[in-house]
Amino acid sequence: MAYTVRKLENFSDESIGAACNEAVNAFAEEVSVIRDLLKSSDVSIAKKNEALKAFRDWWFARKTGILTQFNDTWLKAAPADRKRAMGRAVNELRTQFEMEGEKLEEKHASLSSSLPADRLDVTLPGIHRPLGAEHPVLKTMNEIVGVFRAMGYSVADGPEIETDYLNFEALNFPPNHPARDTQDTLFVAGQEKKPQRDRLLLRTHTSPVQIRAMLATPPPIRVVVPGKVHRADTADATHSPIFHQVEGLAVDTNITFCDLKGTLDHAMKSLFGSNVKTRFYPSFFPFTEPSADVQITCFKCGGKGCRLCKMSGWIELLGCGMVDPNVFKFVEGNGYDAGKVSGFAFGMGVERITMLKYGIDDIQLFYQGDVRFLEQFA
Ligand code: PHE
Repeated sequence: MAYTVRKLENFSDESIGAACNEAVNAFAEEVSVIRDLLKSSDVSIAKKNEALKAFRDWWFARKTGILTQFNDTWLKAAPADRKRAMGRAVNELRTQFEMEGEKLEEKHASLSSSLPADRLDVTLPGIHRPLGAEHPVLKTMNEIVGVFRAMGYSVADGPEIETDYLNFEALNFPPNHPARDTQDTLFVAGQEKKPQRDRLLLRTHTSPVQIRAMLATPPPIRVVVPGKVHRADTADATHSPIFHQVEGLAVDTNITFCDLKGTLDHAMKSLFGSNVKTRFYPSFFPFTEPSADVQITCFKCGGKGCRLCKMSGWIELLGCGMVDPNVFKFVEGNGYDAGKVSGFAFGMGVERITMLKYGIDDIQLFYQGDVRFLEQFA
């Protein structure tokens, strides 16, 4: 701040004009220095604030600023007949300087508000927005469904809250039949007054959709049914009260056990690799006859025997069988004449297959939502 107000020797127009010019030039020079400083990205905000404050004080401070000195040094000293001219000149300077000063302040305010928080530093690493991915259980489920879609199956679904009739009775579990005990069923409360067949429960398997599909579509039919099922199981490393199944049903004329074997053998090879062999082990389900459990050769040890297959060389994967003629009786009206059509059905647990495929030893990992676990399948 080099400029100071000098005393005027006389108050002629020339002398006033010259003094004013000096002031205007000095002011303009300082404004341009400050403006450059404010624009510079090498100067900290604190330094800019400081420079602007010094400038503001020097020129505009109420008691000692240059503008005040114009009044004290020039206007007060002017003789009565030059007061008007001097006053006008001082006012002009004040208006002009104040306007310029305000512009600088605004400029500084707008620059510093976008700094440093809003300033774009292109050298900073970007914000990482991870993409979501399919949950491993859904991934396997879609894969299984895909294998059957490729064989011409269509996809069906049904409600998770199901009637006793569709979950059990129409699947040849008569009321009070002991086979019901194998499905630890969760019933909806407060339905004691309803006839048993109308009572609601959380479906224990996707098999009721077999009945729903046959009631909706006359034969021939080929459907896969992915879905969620519920059982009154205590959660542990291999059990969860809620889990997923994929059901399948094919009904046509002349469907035989060979078709069932060929279809599931193909499906297992698609899911676990063409090296696996399948084995059909006698089993029981009320709604299939004969029934079988499908086992595949252990894909870990290749059939030699290891911990995964409990030294047997075989791993049990799913239940299946030929549709029991008693089941057709419940859908007879829609063209399912047990004397004319035959079919097979199968059902598999998606969590179990996923665990085997990826070597996961605790089913609970699927439900805990731990990203460290889930991102391995992305
Ligand atoms: N619904 C049976 C279960 O949950 C599986 C199954 C489906 C078996 C279809 C045979 C045919 O255990």
